[in-house]
Amino acid sequence: MKVILLGAPGAGKGTQAEMIVAKYKLPHVSTGDILRKNIREMTELGKVAKAIIDDGKLVSDELVIKLVDSRLKENDCKKGWLLDGFPRTIPQAEALDKITNVDIVIEIKIAYEALLQRITGRRMCECGATYHTSFYTGDRCATCGKPLYQRDDDKAEVVSKRLETYKNLTEPLVEYYTVRNKLRTVDGNLSQQEVFRQVTDILNDYD
Ligand code: AP5
Repeated sequence: MKVILLGAPGAGKGTQAEMIVAKYKLPHVSTGDILRKNIREMTELGKVAKAIIDDGKLVSDELVIKLVDSRLKENDCKKGWLLDGFPRTIPQAEALDKITNVDIVIEIKIAYEALLQRITGRRMCECGATYHTSFYTGDRCATCGKPLYQRDDDKAEVVSKRLETYKNLTEPLVEYYTVRNKLRTVDGNLSQQEVFRQVTDILNDYD
């Protein structure tokens, strides 16, 4: 299965991705995670990406298309993958169509007002686990014990810019995939388990 998760910042893509890859044994390809890894490791790409991400903007299409193209050529992606955070612009979607075919695009749709609370309360661990301060009050990861941190781009002043970027550049993908008959929508306002139930209904149907 070749699946894309589409949704605004904070819609729950990363949260659902963790559950999907565990159940369906797909490799999780998150452009946000790849860029943050480069930032942590202070690579040349990481240095370029940090300033852009911290400003709530998108890294250039050229750069992320190259990243995804080479990641999807790796062995573990031969039979399928879950793309999270890519494509994010029409040129990225067109480039992906040239690289490979896409089976399903799952849009996680959520009320705009909920996003700010979701993002500003998010806490991350280096191991990839994600928490929310409403559900988890610890300051260390429940899985690996490392300290939790807040992403630099999760500060309130950057979040509104990210949401605007989403509206202008990424939301047009809903139409792009609707006309290609690939789009399915789940209700991201529900609990994580309820959202996952809707996602599995879609993926089991496809399987
Ligand atoms: P990226 O890392 O992709 O960030 P994003 O799309 O902004 O999405 P988020 O990670 O903020 O949210 P999410 O939907 O994964 O939500 P989560 O599951 O964590 O990209 C970061 C940056 O990198 C971009 O801004 C851009 O600059 C750059 N970039 C990345 N890809 C790019 C590309 N293709 N092109 C150009 N630039 C690119 O959930 C959020 C919170 O809510 C968590 O605390 C979670 O615990 C909680 N939560 C989740 N689901 C629920 C639920 N159902 N109920 C209650 N709480 C929930």
